[in-house]
Amino acid sequence: MAQGWSPHSWRSKPISQAPSYPDAAALSAVESRLASHPPLVFAGEARNLTAALAEVAEGKAFLLQGGDCAESFAEFSANNIRDTFCVFLSMATVLTFAADVPVVKIGRIAGQFAKPRSDDSEVRDGNALPSYRGDIINGEDFTASARVPDPARMTDAYFQSAATANLVRAFASGGYADLSRARYWYRDDHNHPDLLQRYLSVVDRIGNGMGFMKAFGLADAARTSSVDFYFSHETLLLPYEQALTRQDSITGNWYDTSAHMVWIGDRTRQPDGAHVEFCRGVENPIGLKCGPSLSEDDLARLLKILNPKNIPGRLTLIARFGADKVGEALPKLIRTVEREGAKVVWSCDPMHGNTIKSATGFKTRPFDRVVKEVKNFFEVHRAEGTHAGGVHLEMTGQNVTECTGGAQEISEADLARQYDTRCDPRLNASQALELAFLMAELMDAQKKKDARLSA
Ligand code: PEP
Ligand code: CO
Repeated sequence: MAQGWSPHSWRSKPISQAPSYPDAAALSAVESRLASHPPLVFAGEARNLTAALAEVAEGKAFLLQGGDCAESFAEFSANNIRDTFCVFLSMATVLTFAADVPVVKIGRIAGQFAKPRSDDSEVRDGNALPSYRGDIINGEDFTASARVPDPARMTDAYFQSAATANLVRAFASGGYADLSRARYWYRDDHNHPDLLQRYLSVVDRIGNGMGFMKAFGLADAARTSSVDFYFSHETLLLPYEQALTRQDSITGNWYDTSAHMVWIGDRTRQPDGAHVEFCRGVENPIGLKCGPSLSEDDLARLLKILNPKNIPGRLTLIARFGADKVGEALPKLIRTVEREGAKVVWSCDPMHGNTIKSATGFKTRPFDRVVKEVKNFFEVHRAEGTHAGGVHLEMTGQNVTECTGGAQEISEADLARQYDTRCDPRLNASQALELAFLMAELMDAQKKKDARLSA
């Protein structure tokens, strides 16, 4: 066990972004109840994910992580869960086909409820109220009563996470994810027939390949009927995370059983702070958001604190600089990692550094900025001789109009049409698939270059 660590040792450290619950007794009653509820994931699954991410770190697999910015109680439905799952499957189909490497799929799902905020309060028409911090903490309505942090919301979030995880697991292994159904994973309700054709032609080529393998008696060699799918969220609300932290009966190690992977946000990654303290002692794979304010010194410290044994797959660095900053900022951090000899997965979050306010008043992200950050991320890794390991996206299977651009050419005026997000703007299913095709091209170019170098 990490020295001096316990599931509650974070409580003696400075903490950012923590809600203040007015009723301490109600909070501790919820914490004790949650601590006796069953875990949401099994430690062995988290170990499998670490092993899968170790393959990503070595350049033998690609990481696709994504989902809602914030899950919500109101939008909890089977269709939403299914449609998000389908976005993963369709993107992974395109990426696997192009790059010939497995795609490790991790949803921002089944627990992604708590949100860090830039301001503690929100002002509307001269009235100030505490900010909305996600459905696990308080309500979004702009009323004083909704904005009071309510610990009972943790219990609701726990049960919603359990039901969501249950359905995703059923889809992943119950036949929905069978490769023979690939043509149904992208539905053209997005007015985008070209993209559908492009997708179906990939599906047909895979089908031909499968037919060939069957004819050769090799069909069983390829696993086609189920997929591995993992759950993740930002480990922000530490009373909740602590309540779900359990000692694994097989290894005696501690795991945060609220998700397979948890990540530390860009606002809570202080090396001496509570969130880093909590994460250093749990054995799950950990993500660390790396934004413009992360210094090389702090990164070097965090590598040692979070992964002292340098276990490949334990740590994923999620770069989120913005399309124009990544070229300048990322090489320095890559060199820090190389200097320290640290084994990490490098992933690109092209969402959080590219948020702007539209003239119509909506928070949005221009699709071409998202694309540009991904391209620049691949380009920097190519130049540094390191591996662009994956992406971290905010996306949904719903036909929303939250990010401008893409082949549907969503304009700022279109944003009002279907703007549903609880927090940040998400790519819709066709923007996400379009991005997958673009990444497939980048990965294919990388593969050809590697083949030339090793020839
Ligand atoms: C997020 O991933 O939703 C988020 C808040 O990101 P970051 O910590 O990178 O700002
Ligand atoms: Co977000």
